[in-house]
Amino acid sequence: MRDRNFLVENNAKPIWHPMAHPAEMRAQPPRIVMKGEGVHVTDIDGKSVIDAVGGLWNVNLGYSCDPIKQAISDQLNALPYYSGFRGTSSGPSIELAYELTEWFKPEGMVRAFFTSGGSDSVETALRLARQYWKIKGQADRTKFLALKKGYHGTHFGGASVNGNANFRRNYEPMLPGVFHIPAPSTYRNPFNETDPARLAQLCAAAMEEEIAFQGADTIAAFIMEPVLGAGGVIVPPDSFMKLMREICDRHGILMIADEVVTGFGRTGAWSGSRLWGVKPDMMTMAKAITSGYFPLGATLIGEHVAEAFETDTTNFGSIGHGYTYSGHPVGCAAGLAALAETRRLKLDENATARGKDLAQSLAALKAKHPLVGDVRGKGLMAALELVADRDSKKPADKKTMAKVADSAYEAGVMLRVSGNNLILSPPLILTALDVQAIADGIDAGLSAAG
Ligand SMILES: Cc1ncc(COP(=O)(O)O)c(C=O)c1O
Repeated sequence: MRDRNFLVENNAKPIWHPMAHPAEMRAQPPRIVMKGEGVHVTDIDGKSVIDAVGGLWNVNLGYSCDPIKQAISDQLNALPYYSGFRGTSSGPSIELAYELTEWFKPEGMVRAFFTSGGSDSVETALRLARQYWKIKGQADRTKFLALKKGYHGTHFGGASVNGNANFRRNYEPMLPGVFHIPAPSTYRNPFNETDPARLAQLCAAAMEEEIAFQGADTIAAFIMEPVLGAGGVIVPPDSFMKLMREICDRHGILMIADEVVTGFGRTGAWSGSRLWGVKPDMMTMAKAITSGYFPLGATLIGEHVAEAFETDTTNFGSIGHGYTYSGHPVGCAAGLAALAETRRLKLDENATARGKDLAQSLAALKAKHPLVGDVRGKGLMAALELVADRDSKKPADKKTMAKVADSAYEAGVMLRVSGNNLILSPPLILTALDVQAIADGIDAGLSAAG
């Protein structure tokens, strides 16, 4: 690799970064991360910080998981690539599909379709949902329902079901036939309702109303994150996802659970659907499937959907969709090792235990700092929503957010800013001491900005 000066000189110049304005990045180049060890990352100046972001919600096993590194190396030596398209299959892809369908049997998943990441997995689920209805002879069912504040990646399908204007405006017009209902956020909702059970009912009524308006027989699927991640870690009321499932069932609408963040233990359960006791019709996976060590995703397919395709006699059942890297043998080998480690270390249990510690620490920070308007979380996904004023809930400005994050970094903690939220999604191997270190870093950041 070229030397330090080259990297610093060219930082944010030949490269454009996702979710950023190129000019802003040039003016304020991002940190250059060079190394990772355990739950820490080290920057180009040799500063080591605890990674409270977990890469990007994905490095659940931290940066030193030797079994994944070994599996990748072994697979590279055996077979670095072969296609998963019709005609060929690789050993790791068969094995990982088997493991995934076993793991997510309680959710009713029976098949896996491999992708290269979360956006691909969402795209796959949306396309398969439309195709399912063509097979079933209900070709009018083409529309999608989704939640405001939901995040489903950046392909045109996913960005269309996305519920955040920031990710849509510059790319409109989006896919036609996508409709959004209010996010089940007790902190900010159009009904000014703070009681979770009542809020769930109000959102359910809005969903019913939209279905009646559109016509149920025109709707293919409803997609939701069991806990909304990028939208600011919105934890729905306990009854919410079940209510949505009941509504979908009543109207014959497929339910897609976008588990790209919530899959593999982050909420304290092996999936968000399992957390809420719901069986979706399809689940989208990525991120922690390899703990971020290799780009890989999967769309998992439930029994009824699989059966429709596999018993199809209409010729609508042939899948005209897929990616060069669907079932990548190295990715699948990484996935097998990551899943084995995830299970061996019981990361779901650790996410629950450390999530409780984290929730306590964040509640104390809220009590101490008026800047914190709301604290939310489930397991080891959490957010602090910062406000200029608690009564009006006016969002904290960009400068304040940057000050908090920069000062926390100085104090040894990497945080992620999304709008006026500080997002926490640390590795699930976190210890109680790590939780304390994260809370201390945030405390320092809030003190500096407050
Ligand atoms: C819930 C959800 N779905 C889909 C995606 C898109 O995944 P990717 O960035 O791997 O394409 C993300 C990414 O953060 C996500 O959080």
